[in-house]
Amino acid sequence: MALLRVRDLRVSFETVDGRVDAVNGVDLTVEAGQSLAVVGESGSGKSQLMFAIMGLLARNGTATGSVKFDDAELIGLDDAALNRVRSSQIAMIFQDPMTSLNPYMRIADQMTEVLTLHRGMSRREALAESVRLLDEMEVSDASERIGMYPHEFSGGMRQRVLIAMALACRPRLLIADEPTTALDVTVQSQIMRLLAEVRDRFGTAVILVTHDAGIVAGNCDEMVVLYGGRIMESGAVDRIFVVPRHPYTRGLLKAVPRLDRDDERLPAIPGNPTNPGRLAPGCPFAVRCPRMIERCERESPALVPFPPDGRIACHRPLDQAS
Ligand SMILES: Nc1ncnc2c1ncn2[C@@H]1O[C@H](COP(=O)(O)OP(=O)(O)O)[C@@H](O)[C@H]1O
Ligand code: SF4
Ligand SMILES: [Mg+2]
Repeated sequence: MALLRVRDLRVSFETVDGRVDAVNGVDLTVEAGQSLAVVGESGSGKSQLMFAIMGLLARNGTATGSVKFDDAELIGLDDAALNRVRSSQIAMIFQDPMTSLNPYMRIADQMTEVLTLHRGMSRREALAESVRLLDEMEVSDASERIGMYPHEFSGGMRQRVLIAMALACRPRLLIADEPTTALDVTVQSQIMRLLAEVRDRFGTAVILVTHDAGIVAGNCDEMVVLYGGRIMESGAVDRIFVVPRHPYTRGLLKAVPRLDRDDERLPAIPGNPTNPGRLAPGCPFAVRCPRMIERCERESPALVPFPPDGRIACHRPLDQAS
């Protein structure tokens, strides 16, 4: 049984300018201990997809479809029931760790609060466990630094603290939404390595949300490419990086700097992601796609299995040689 099974998930927002369809029928599965990357440009619906899974949409948003965690349906659960799942089974970290930390409380107090509340530890036990968790996240001199305030930490260290806090309740799924976007490149790769370790050592499933396909290779098992709130392509990271089959995926990967030629950053996909409004007919990528044909504007490509391991939504996928 899959840990997380999302079926036909849709998210719409009511706004003064009309309805915005941000997520349009997403299907995905995460197995226990697996890591899945959700990749797409800004505005492609990545965060709203995660918020819908967590039951944390803004008040003007509505989610329909199915989100099963451990075979239990989360869509439509009342807040109290949802909070029980969220606080004990799923944890989420964000781009800016400062938004999740209380600037006026020492790290020690913020971390021990989680442990005393959710794992019933004494204050003393909670402090020891917090120091241990920080050690695991390679925060040096953890027993001293745990007495500090968030502003006394660097951005990278704050993100380590947040991962440690997220792990305090031993969640089975950790959702990391652009966790390294605000960090410099060296720190980015350290945090990515930590997340991979979290999966390997604790068996925690990880969903990594990012606009930067470059940080995915070597750090995740599977990936899902989102555009206009729809999955364009999914499959094993190793395969997609070698032979992307969707024109959008190829464009995204072309924009990734190559390690062997770091002076050469290939151009990103021409054109801008369209602002989502109401769901339109046709392929959402059509206006920017170099392979577009007449049918693409008329008929939305269905997401179909693409051997050996993936799924693709495109009327004219690239073949292996192109
Ligand atoms: N509360 C809201 N009301 C209306 N539109 C929203 C709201 N929240 C997000 N959106 C829209 O949903 C779309 C997807 O947003 P998001 O999931 O945050 O993108 P990203 O892939 O960058 O994380 C965006 O066009 C955004 O403007
Ligand atoms: S369906 Fe058509 S427009 Fe969309 S990505 Fe494929 S070829 Fe391009
Ligand atoms: Mg986002």
